[in-house]
Amino acid sequence: VEKDGTRVFDLRMQAGETEFRDGVRTPTWGFNGSYLGPTLRAKRGEKVRVRVSNTLDEPSTVHWHGMHLPARMDGGPHQMVAPGATWTPHWTVDQPAATLWYHPHPHGRTEDHVRRGLAGLFLLDDDASGRLPLPKRYGVDDLPVVVQDVRFDGSRLAGDRGLMQNVGFLGDRTMVNGTLRPYRKVQDELIRLRLLNASTARTYAFGFADSRDFALIGTDGGLLQRPARMNRIQLSPGERAEIVVRMKPGERVMLRSFPQRNYGDEWQRRFNGGDDTFDVLELRAAERLRPSPELPGTLVSAPELPDGEQAVEARHFDLKRSGINGRAMDMGRIDETVTRGTTEVWTIRNTNGMPHNFHVHDVQFRVMEVNGKTPPPELRGRKDTVFVPHGVTMKLALRFTGPADPDVPYMYHCHLLYHEDEGMMGQFVVV
Ligand code: C2O
Ligand code: CU
Ligand code: CU
Repeated sequence: VEKDGTRVFDLRMQAGETEFRDGVRTPTWGFNGSYLGPTLRAKRGEKVRVRVSNTLDEPSTVHWHGMHLPARMDGGPHQMVAPGATWTPHWTVDQPAATLWYHPHPHGRTEDHVRRGLAGLFLLDDDASGRLPLPKRYGVDDLPVVVQDVRFDGSRLAGDRGLMQNVGFLGDRTMVNGTLRPYRKVQDELIRLRLLNASTARTYAFGFADSRDFALIGTDGGLLQRPARMNRIQLSPGERAEIVVRMKPGERVMLRSFPQRNYGDEWQRRFNGGDDTFDVLELRAAERLRPSPELPGTLVSAPELPDGEQAVEARHFDLKRSGINGRAMDMGRIDETVTRGTTEVWTIRNTNGMPHNFHVHDVQFRVMEVNGKTPPPELRGRKDTVFVPHGVTMKLALRFTGPADPDVPYMYHCHLLYHEDEGMMGQFVVV
């Protein structure tokens, strides 16, 4: 922290080696280390400055996924950091407590850079959530769970797509926080898991092996109005969920990813991951557990969500593997121009026969409708990324508060990173 209260972080993109398996050294990339990056943390109202240095031998960027900030600080494909260079974005945190993350965004190279290990969490806090009786001791009863699928090709991390795989690279096992076969000892009755799907292509349906229910307390952009009980939560690449699970003394319970019926047709489920099951993380409870307070009935009195009734503009986005609205990404073309201080309704449609998702930079949106119906509880909170499988049309309400910058665009794209790299991305400016 500097004299004026600015919170300063250093992130160094670097190449290294990681020993995921005993005695096998795998070449990887990381921030300030050989794989993944530190969890950054700041509070609403704080000024933040990050010194991003690139010691790799190729250009990259660092994007603050889920963060509301000026376009030139966003870390998208227009803010490239050359090898040996340093980029120092700064902004004021102006949004509710949430689990955000950061990762590279060089156009055409994002899948490769993320898969090699460049990703980390960026947690935001605020006063109201700080007063809630939620599990909040980081690394004790409030655990980061960064999930990636990997496949080893000898000592290397594989990155090739199988012949039948049209979603991108799919691994044959998962890691949590860069660890294979992970388990975690816990000593509290209630455990909060901050789930991040940091995989490049794989969608998960998380739940526990014994199908016990858990409370969903937060989505991409912050806490839900009230906890929602469920036993599965589906997360496509880039999405986050905060869940709270109750433990019994001495037990072991496995967080698992289950097959997903809504993933697509039989072909998609079989060859593109929808039928797969993974054991993701084992929680091992101590013989004696510290009592945890009950979860509050209300988490936020009025979640900050845009009101679609006030929309001044409607836009349509048709998701196709070849591009959004029939156009492949072009760094030199602005696809949409939105007006600062207005709300819009965006309709996202997938009739492409394969799963996609949809992510918008700078904003947290409200899902108004899924195929004409009220969205389920997991889509009622603040979202910046949504899973849009084949046959689904979603209506989103987005509010663009600025600042205006006609020269620097934000991105919207499919967060299946192979699709993004191949052109499923567009650019909008706020004016
Ligand atoms: Cu997480 Cu445009 O990205
Ligand atoms: Cu983003
Ligand atoms: Cu896609």
